Amino acid sequence: MLKFKFLICLIGLLCGSVSCERYKNIWFPKINRATLHREFTKNQFDHVHIDHQNISQITKGLLWELTAVKKLEIELCQVRTIEEGAFKRMARMEKLSLKHNLLEEIKNNVFKDLSIEELDLSNNQIKTISEQAFADMRQLRSINLSNNKIAVYHNKWFADTQKLHEINFENNLIKVLPETIFGINFFTFSYMSFIFSHNQIEEIDEKAFKKVFYLNKLYLDHNTITTLPRNLFSWTHRVEDLRLDHNRIVCTALNIKHVKKYNVDDNPWNQECLQAFKNGEDGTVTSSTTPLPSTTSTKRSRDNFIRIG
Ligand SMILES: *[C@@H]1O[C@H](CO)[C@@H](O)[C@H](O)[C@H]1NC(C)=O
Ligand SMILES: *[C@@H]1O[C@H](CO)[C@@H](O)[C@H](O)[C@H]1NC(C)=O
Repeated sequence: MLKFKFLICLIGLLCGSVSCERYKNIWFPKINRATLHREFTKNQFDHVHIDHQNISQITKGLLWELTAVKKLEIELCQVRTIEEGAFKRMARMEKLSLKHNLLEEIKNNVFKDLSIEELDLSNNQIKTISEQAFADMRQLRSINLSNNKIAVYHNKWFADTQKLHEINFENNLIKVLPETIFGINFFTFSYMSFIFSHNQIEEIDEKAFKKVFYLNKLYLDHNTITTLPRNLFSWTHRVEDLRLDHNRIVCTALNIKHVKKYNVDDNPWNQECLQAFKNGEDGTVTSSTTPLPSTTSTKRSRDNFIRIG
């Protein structure tokens, strides 16, 4: 039996998806409901990986015996719905991946009272996420919602997830980033990463990052931003890496005093404005555009900026 497990683990390693030190019992089931239940009951697996099966609904019954699991992956399984309470007995689960399925909606109570730290919902068809869908996920550190169809960002989603520091919404249909994107009570001194590349963002509220003191990655590239509020970072002490390339910025008076590194390439900049933007403060420019000839009026006041176009 030991040899058998070792072999499976090796297969997992070859596929690059399994960490052997951490998850001792690993199982890749060939789905057959009867075998599944027998196996789950007999073995207290702590890593279960299921892929390429047809599981249109994750029901309570399907995973009922999996009480010891720490890492669960149900991927490429055409999952469309998750029954409320389906993961309820998995009190030890730290990582859950449901990527590459057909989920369209995340309802309230699906992840209720779980201690998940990493949640991967990428590559689904998610359009709607209920307000309280992630409420009570107090251990959640990272969430991946990339490659979905989310159009409206709700600032109640992460109101209770105080440990969250990485959110990925890459390649969705979001148009607006509202006030306090982590809810009005959010408060942290951790470095936060927000990935919003490849959306349709036009507007960012001036208070979107209120009480976010440290930003690691803020990726807003490949959107349709024309201008940014000057005081967007007025609560922020440091922004490590800001991406604003591939937008529609002609001119913006955004204060980048605390921004370490930024990329503003591939925007229809007014050249004078761009120069002033760059000269304004001491961010390290990673722009690959050819440097502009220095103008005489380099230190002009940012409030004099005009927007053209
Ligand atoms: C998957 O399962 C559902 C219900 O169990 C069924 O309706 C559907 O046809 C199945 N799809 C495939 C591709 O087998
Ligand atoms: C999020 O999901 C995408 C698509 O599956 C993947 O490329 C990316 O590495 C993931 N990011 C994180 C932080 O897990």
